[in-house]
Amino acid sequence: MKSRLFQLFALLVVTFCHASSKRAKNGGRPNVLFIVIDDLRPKLGCYGEDIVSPNIDQLASKSMRFTNAHVQQAVCAPSRVSFLTGRRPDTTRLYDFGSYWRKAAGNYTTLPQYFKEQGYFSAGVGKVFHMGISSNGSFDYPYSWSIPNYWPSTEQYITSKVCITPEGKKHNLLCPVDLKTQPEGTLPDIQNADYAVDLLKNIYDGAPYVDFFGENQTMQEPFFVGLGFRKPHVPYKYPEEFKALYPLDSIQIAKDKDLPSELPSVAYAPYLSTLDNYDDIAGLNLSFPYGPMPIDYHYLIRQNYYSSVSYTDYQLGRVLSALDKYGFSDNTIISFVGDHGWQLGEHSEFSKFTNYLYATNVPLLFHVPGVTDRGVRSKRKFPLIHPLKFKPKPRTSMKPSGILMSASESTEKHMYRPRDQGPTSNAFAELVDLFPTVSDLAGLQVPSLCPEDSLNETLCREGVSLAPLIKSHFGGGEQNISNVKTCTISQYPRPSDQPEKGSILPKLATIIIMGYSMRTSDYRYSEWVGFNHTTFQMDWEDLHASELYILANDPSEDNNVAQDPTYIDIVQEMSSKLHQGWRDCIL
Ligand SMILES: *[C@@H]1O[C@H](CO)[C@@H](O)[C@H](O)[C@H]1NC(C)=O
Ligand SMILES: *[C@@H]1O[C@H](CO)[C@@H](O)[C@H](O)[C@H]1NC(C)=O
Ligand SMILES: *[C@@H]1O[C@H](CO)[C@@H](O)[C@H](O)[C@H]1NC(C)=O
Ligand SMILES: *[C@@H]1O[C@H](CO)[C@@H](O)[C@H](O)[C@H]1NC(C)=O
Ligand SMILES: *[C@@H]1O[C@H](CO)[C@@H](O)[C@H](O)[C@H]1NC(C)=O
Ligand SMILES: *[C@@H]1O[C@H](CO)[C@@H](O)[C@H](O)[C@H]1NC(C)=O
Ligand SMILES: *[C@@H]1O[C@H](CO)[C@@H](O)[C@H](O)[C@H]1NC(C)=O
Repeated sequence: MKSRLFQLFALLVVTFCHASSKRAKNGGRPNVLFIVIDDLRPKLGCYGEDIVSPNIDQLASKSMRFTNAHVQQAVCAPSRVSFLTGRRPDTTRLYDFGSYWRKAAGNYTTLPQYFKEQGYFSAGVGKVFHMGISSNGSFDYPYSWSIPNYWPSTEQYITSKVCITPEGKKHNLLCPVDLKTQPEGTLPDIQNADYAVDLLKNIYDGAPYVDFFGENQTMQEPFFVGLGFRKPHVPYKYPEEFKALYPLDSIQIAKDKDLPSELPSVAYAPYLSTLDNYDDIAGLNLSFPYGPMPIDYHYLIRQNYYSSVSYTDYQLGRVLSALDKYGFSDNTIISFVGDHGWQLGEHSEFSKFTNYLYATNVPLLFHVPGVTDRGVRSKRKFPLIHPLKFKPKPRTSMKPSGILMSASESTEKHMYRPRDQGPTSNAFAELVDLFPTVSDLAGLQVPSLCPEDSLNETLCREGVSLAPLIKSHFGGGEQNISNVKTCTISQYPRPSDQPEKGSILPKLATIIIMGYSMRTSDYRYSEWVGFNHTTFQMDWEDLHASELYILANDPSEDNNVAQDPTYIDIVQEMSSKLHQGWRDCIL
């Protein structure tokens, strides 16, 4: 026993010295793990939801957790290009999936590029940038990354008909699978986690690589690792054992499943034009554009989304525990974010593509060693917790598959307490704040605020750093800051006033309306106005529709009162605030 303890101690000392000697060489600069989860709204244990996400919750318990963070546009590529460049869609000029900002707007520096240019080893794993044209088919390599972005081989089977149902093999939305039946016996996010764990080991080992210019280099600290998981994005293809966490009779229906009253048609996203791509949904013959989704599918979609979240939580847990293993946890800043939300039946929607809080509000966590962990240094910050072993609730006789259980998995009692939601801020945050915040937390210079016309500015920001707020929360700030802005702005384009097949994600050339939506502490107010897709100009005079939700008595945005004469003063006030734009939101 004694000798085992000694061995462990010796190992810890070696690990610590190894890590700190390299650290000293790199000026003590912190690493960054930048995590992006596809289509993840704050349906997580740490956000008070009955979802099994123990690894994310454990991270949250040692992080600053934002409850009021909003995306700039609720769809993947525009949202990601926005937060990765630190600029809003009207500056990246990307509202669809069809252009690369360096060509279509300006040669903007990205967040990983900024770190790379300061001497960081920078690597992207999975979907950090959206794939395809919007990142030039290369995930913005070589500008953003030191090595080509990793992309899992099994992504190619995303539309394969692999879900075994009673009717045969289908391409289904609801797609719990037995990994043994899957091509290559795995799934994209398992591969992403595998690769990320190997990458951390390679950095620890100082593995060699050849850079874009053919020069020999060494993977080393400080690093910026971008890590993007694909689930809970549709289709819900995940290892089937996770479904046992969510028996159908435990699922709650959306509490506001009906269309909001007085909803202008332009605000609605006809989700069926995407979900009808799946055999199981297409087989329901739902009526376009409003459906509705049959109630049994309402439950099933929720069940499969939740299961996908728990599956992703486990994959993330594997990577976080590898930070511990290689001695990086105490010197790595971790940011965690969803690229936008997802409506799980609220307002008769099963999608993103709107300006509702369900689509714009995302989980946002910042782990800052020595700050958000209250200075508790530990070599075992993130012991892996298997979601299937975690929940005391109905789990019947299911046995987790061998492939999912890793040898290094923690079997000891977890330090994490299920209801510990961690330090929390309800301050407004926008995802354009990620760039300045992560830079600031790492001690890099925060880029200056962009001028009105910033197409020629390669480095500037349209958000603010949340770092002073985070530090002051933990008593380490120079000032007592509880807010950095008074409002957030999101936008969504449409090709028409009435919902049509292209309404969910119109191509740039078809966009004629832009919905600008402002959220303040009291209201959400939107104007859907004419938009010229050649000049990228909105025309406030060309008002198609407006929305006003009084959040104090209508927090779920069920009643649009913009046309109600009672609220005319508020509408006028909010309208002029919206026209002033995002700069006026900054304190
Ligand atoms: C864009 O910026 C990158 C990185 O600074 C630079 O290498 C490249 O030459 C620039 N491209 C243009 C067209 O200016
Ligand atoms: C985008 O990719 C193409 C072809 O792969 C390449 O020729 C072009 O230089 C890239 N654009 C930029 C701005 O690097
Ligand atoms: C890189 O390293 C390899 C293997 O060590 C060596 O053969 C090659 O000459 C090196 N290339 C450069 C550009 O130094
Ligand atoms: C849907 O329509 C197809 C073709 O019109 C028909 O064969 C099928 O029975 C319908 N399914 C349902 C559930 O109504
Ligand atoms: C940006 O650069 C282009 C090309 O050099 C120039 O024509 C344009 O006037 C510049 N715009 C601004 C706002 O400086
Ligand atoms: C910061 O200010 C708030 C509101 O004035 C106050 O409640 C809080 O105690 C202050 N915190 C610190 C650390 O001074
Ligand atoms: C958009 O602006 C361009 C350039 O000013 C103009 O030619 C075009 O007619 C405008 N389009 C609309 C729909 O107003």
